[in-house]
Amino acid sequence: MMMGRVRQFLLAAAAKVSKADKGFVERSLTPELQRLFFAMSVPDQCHALRTARCAGKLAPDFPESVDPAFLTRCALLHDIGRKKGDLGTMWKSFAVLFAALCPERARAYGDGGEGLLSKKMRVYFHHADIGADMLEKLGFSAEAAVIRGHHKAPAEDDPPALRLLRAADAKS
Ligand SMILES: [Fe+2]
Ligand SMILES: [Fe+2]
Repeated sequence: MMMGRVRQFLLAAAAKVSKADKGFVERSLTPELQRLFFAMSVPDQCHALRTARCAGKLAPDFPESVDPAFLTRCALLHDIGRKKGDLGTMWKSFAVLFAALCPERARAYGDGGEGLLSKKMRVYFHHADIGADMLEKLGFSAEAAVIRGHHKAPAEDDPPALRLLRAADAKS
């Protein structure tokens, strides 16, 4: 877990979206969804791209079949609830530590209040719901349902796309 975080931090510092990446996003998402994708920070865009590629690689070995285009959309959009500037690398590192060291206080900040810390912790804890609500408003309810669950504890009836997304997210 912690090594994963360190890896994510280092990858974030070196993040760059290539021309090929941009083409992949343009082929995979409608223009309105592309706007949501490119509203994320560049490190989050790179993380989403790695997640999409990883999910695509894991999918063939999965017992259930998943529509690859749907899986790609879910992976590319899973963190759109965290827009550029909402939770930069430093704030994210702080939020990870705060949540690990003082879980109850961190939760309380995330669940209410108007200050900057509340705003940051709200995005940290609730970006899955924030992103899902954005997609629902645009009529993408199936993608919204998968994205809403990506930080929830695994459940028996989780759809295969959600299980694949969780596995790919953890590796990316
Ligand atoms: Fe996430
Ligand atoms: Fe993620």
